[in-house]
Amino acid sequence: MACDLILALDVPTREAAAPLLRQLRGSLRWVKIGLQMFTAYGPDYVRAVADEGYSIFLDLKLHDIPNTVAKAVESLAPLPIGMLTIHTSGGREMMTAARQAQEQSNPRLLLLGVTVLTSMDTAALHDTGVTSAADAQVSRLANLAAASGLRGLVCSPLEVPMLRSQLPAKIQLVTPGIRPAGDAGGDDQKRVMTPAEAARAGSSYIVVGRPILKAKDPAAVARAILAEITQNAEPSRPLSV
Ligand code: C5P
Repeated sequence: MACDLILALDVPTREAAAPLLRQLRGSLRWVKIGLQMFTAYGPDYVRAVADEGYSIFLDLKLHDIPNTVAKAVESLAPLPIGMLTIHTSGGREMMTAARQAQEQSNPRLLLLGVTVLTSMDTAALHDTGVTSAADAQVSRLANLAAASGLRGLVCSPLEVPMLRSQLPAKIQLVTPGIRPAGDAGGDDQKRVMTPAEAARAGSSYIVVGRPILKAKDPAAVARAILAEITQNAEPSRPLSV
């Protein structure tokens, strides 16, 4: 199973991101722009990072009524993005509307359904009224997403073997919640694996933010993770959806 690294660009300013993007050009392909940078700089920043040669994963985790999410997907169509997230807990109708909008407005975009946030464990889910265990809830939402036409999911690497056994092989599994061996941790991620473990488990893409961004030499850590996943998975093929 092919696996590639996505750098989560969760930094406060474009000046903070610039040196890292410069150093990783040529070795890293995917950059994830999330709420922190998108709310600060908007679509122009997406275009600027794409112009540097990166493929863009826009992680907006859309979650609203079907019409609103579908219209947002249409509004994003002119942007050079390869992946976009919506929340699967928005339900079948919302995911179907989003998928239809994506097919019509941006056929090459991979729409990813976020299952259960990797910062949430079973106890945190119980607090919100979800009485299933985290893995059962991920399974339910992932199967609903596939039935609604989504071709990619965001989940914890711990759930990849379960989802690989339940879903068609063409479904792309994107996994945050990655912590390199020896990483001190101590942050909000609860359901975690190392890059090598996630690649071996069958992740299509691993998403890594703080272990790279907070390192003394972020580019070196990113390159070490790329080497680790290359050794533990087949080389990545270009995305075809
Ligand atoms: O810093 P860290 O490696 O924990 O970053 C993980 C990234 O993946 C963050 O940008 C976070 O928003 C994102 N993410 C996640 N869990 C999900 C979906 C996305 O951690 N289920």
